[in-house]
Amino acid sequence: MPRPNIQFHDLHPTQADFRHEVLSGLRHRPRRIPPKFFYDERGSRLFDAITETADYYPTRAEKEILETRAAEIAQRIGTGSLLVEPGGGSCAKVRILLGGLQPVAYVPMDISRDHLHAAAQELAAEFPWLEVHAAHADFTQQMAVPPSAPEGPRVAFFPGSSIGNFDPEAAVGFIAAVAELVGPGGFLLIGVDLRKDKAVLDAAYDDAAGATAAFNLNLLARMNRELDADFDLEAWAHRAGYNEQAGRVEMHLVSLRDQMVNVAGEAFGFTAGETIHTENSYKYHVDEFQELARRAGMDSAGAWTDRRGLFSVHLLRNMATANP
Ligand code: AVI
Repeated sequence: MPRPNIQFHDLHPTQADFRHEVLSGLRHRPRRIPPKFFYDERGSRLFDAITETADYYPTRAEKEILETRAAEIAQRIGTGSLLVEPGGGSCAKVRILLGGLQPVAYVPMDISRDHLHAAAQELAAEFPWLEVHAAHADFTQQMAVPPSAPEGPRVAFFPGSSIGNFDPEAAVGFIAAVAELVGPGGFLLIGVDLRKDKAVLDAAYDDAAGATAAFNLNLLARMNRELDADFDLEAWAHRAGYNEQAGRVEMHLVSLRDQMVNVAGEAFGFTAGETIHTENSYKYHVDEFQELARRAGMDSAGAWTDRRGLFSVHLLRNMATANP
C-alpha cells in the first residue's frame, strides 16, 4: 500500500500573542477579542458541531455548490496547481475538489495545531497520491508557502465564508495578500455568505441546539485554561444578531451581573449588560463582493449560488501580468 506523503511545518506564533491580544482587547472600549482565538482544540470541535446544526446553513449550501460545480471549476483552473488553503484545519471541503483539480501538492494552513495535524494525516492516508504540506500558522499574520513545497501555478482555496469575519477593508487587504501569494494568473476560490432575511441569520448564529452559544462561551473557558483567568461561565451569556444596515451578524458575550474578573494577573470590572464583542460575520450580495475583490486586484472568473440562493462561491483571478 502506498505511504501517505505528508510533511508538517511549524510557522506558528507563540502563546504570548493570545495573552497580548486578550489583554489589549479587554482594555479597549468597547471590549473585544479577535475571533481567531475561538479555535483551540475544543473550539474547533464546537465549530464542527455548529456546521451540523439544522440552523447553520452555510456549510451545507457551500458543499452543494462545490459538489455540483466541481467539474466546471476544475476546467476553469486546470490541473497540476499548488493548492493552498489558509485556515484549512479540517481539510474537509477540499476533498470535493481534489479528483478534478489533481494538484501537485496541497498546503493546509491553520492556527489550531492538533486539529490540523489529525485532519492532514487523515487526508494524506485517504489520498496517497497527494503530497501534503501542513503548515501550523496564523494566516491573518503571515501567509507563506513552506519552502519545500513543489512549485506549480498557485490556487488558494478559502471556503466557509471566513472572509466574512474580516471587516470589509481588512477583507480587501486579505484578498490582496492572497493575490500576491498566488501571483499573476493565480486563482482564489472563495466561499461568501449572502445577505438575506434577518430571521434566517439570527437563527443560524443562535442555533436551537446551543452549539453557537457553547462555541462563544468556550472563549471564556479558554482564557480560564490558558491565561489563568477566573471567568464564572454561569455569569455570561451568548448574544448574536444580524445588523441589516451594516450587513453583518454581530456576536457578543454578555456579562449577566456586575463582576470583577482576573485575567493573566490583571483585574477587569464588568457592569451588568456590558459585552465583549467576539465576532462580526459580514454578508455580501454577489456583485458587491465582486467589486470588493476588484479593489484587491482580482477579477471574477465565475460565481455560483446554491439552489436556495443562500450562499455563493466565487472564482477570482489575479489579472496582473508577470514582470519580465
Ligand atoms: C468561520 N466563520 C465563517 C463562521 C461564521 O459563520 O462567521 C464562524 C461562526 N461563528 C458563529 N457561527 C459560526
